[in-house]
Amino acid sequence: MKVGVVGLGYVGLPLAVAFAEEGHDVVGLDADPRKIDALGEGRSYIEDVPSEQLAVLDARLTPTSRFADLSSCDAVIICVPTPLTNSREPDLSYMIDAATSLSAVMQKGQLVVLESTTYPGTTRERLLPILEESGLAAGRDFHLAFSPERIDPGRTDFTIRTTPKVVGGLTDECTRRAVELYGQICDEVVEVSTPDAAELSKLLENIFRSVNIALVNELAMLCERLGIDVWEVVDAASSKPFGFMRFDPGPGMGGHCLPVDPFYLSYKAREHDFYTEFIELAGKINQNQPQWCVRRIERALNEAGKATNGSKVLLLGVSYKAGVGDIRESPALKIIHLLRGLGGDVAYHDPHVEELFDFGLNSVDLEESLATADLVCIVTAHPSLDYREVVERSSLVLDFRGVTRDIEAANLVRL
Ligand SMILES: NC(=O)c1ccc[n+]([C@@H]2O[C@H](COP(=O)([O-])OP(=O)(O)OC[C@H]3O[C@@H](n4cnc5c(N)ncnc54)[C@H](O)[C@@H]3O)[C@@H](O)[C@H]2O)c1
Repeated sequence: MKVGVVGLGYVGLPLAVAFAEEGHDVVGLDADPRKIDALGEGRSYIEDVPSEQLAVLDARLTPTSRFADLSSCDAVIICVPTPLTNSREPDLSYMIDAATSLSAVMQKGQLVVLESTTYPGTTRERLLPILEESGLAAGRDFHLAFSPERIDPGRTDFTIRTTPKVVGGLTDECTRRAVELYGQICDEVVEVSTPDAAELSKLLENIFRSVNIALVNELAMLCERLGIDVWEVVDAASSKPFGFMRFDPGPGMGGHCLPVDPFYLSYKAREHDFYTEFIELAGKINQNQPQWCVRRIERALNEAGKATNGSKVLLLGVSYKAGVGDIRESPALKIIHLLRGLGGDVAYHDPHVEELFDFGLNSVDLEESLATADLVCIVTAHPSLDYREVVERSSLVLDFRGVTRDIEAANLVRL
């Protein structure tokens, strides 16, 4: 097969590599020339795809910025961003731009699959009409499907091959073609009857996480009032072998998915005079979590006889999750912003994030900064750090991730 992948980011690049590794020719297209240049030189910019993995593809992955190169593909998969606008509504502009460019070069018989997370109805109502500007009819001249991406950056126990892939086509033949495509790289493909069902299944997965994280974050706030260790409670509940799934409290949600996707569904629901109150509430609690963390920081400093104003606060980990360098929607960014507003002198150390351009900050040397900080906050617990040593070398540590659960120390406070 010849497969085109539009958008070579966290989702698109591993996908393109997976098809190439199976021996298919892949045209990888991105609007960002720096990414195309990097790939042309055999350099990966995604942690989950080491450059060595690119080197063994034997030129089966062709990076390009020209949509015309997609016209010879059997299938084209779209993996562009679907963020929110400033007013927190779905921003489909990347998908619209990609689809508009694709429609100009589409050929009869091609399969187009959208993988970007979005609200139910996007494939049929928004993508289809743009692709049909090509003069080709969906379901007759070309095939169209939606298949949500389930990638979890940094995860190694499940791969693209071992993670079942959900697929919903516009027609039975569209579904069949999409199942055939993903069957090349996935052991199990799960068919649903429509693209809409596939779109909504992805939102359900992410909203499930968002709601459960909100629940446990709220519990953490209550535990603070009750003087109960929330980690002990979560550990104990997790010993139940059925009917309970563990979620951990933390400084808030980040990444491209969890803070964003629920709003896609709320938006669609409003169009139907329906208000997704449960989802909104979870979003509200999670969005407010960094504020609560800053109050905990203020209190910890206060108990040490210090004001936030003028105190040196060192954040450990600023990416949104452990083991990756992605800072999108990271709660650490909100915490830095809020602390600065209170006059805090904020620095950070993160082995995965060299620079926070918007704040004019660079990752500082760990040893030196631990010794001089008034407070060290574990915001994202990268596995490469030794947290026992962090506690030993710091005057005061506040742990938002529960990684110091086995450490007892007078200078240690946990969420
Ligand atoms: N990152 C994740 O963990 C994850 C997981 C599941 C689903 N998703 C979803 O997958 C989609 C992509 O996410 P991502 O994390 O890979 O984003 P990303 O920002 O890492 O990558 C998207 C890429 O698309 C490119 N692009 C933007 N507009 C383009 C255009 N018109 N033509 C060609 N290329 C274009 C960008 O330059 C970028 O390289 C989103 O809808 C996201 O919600 C992401």
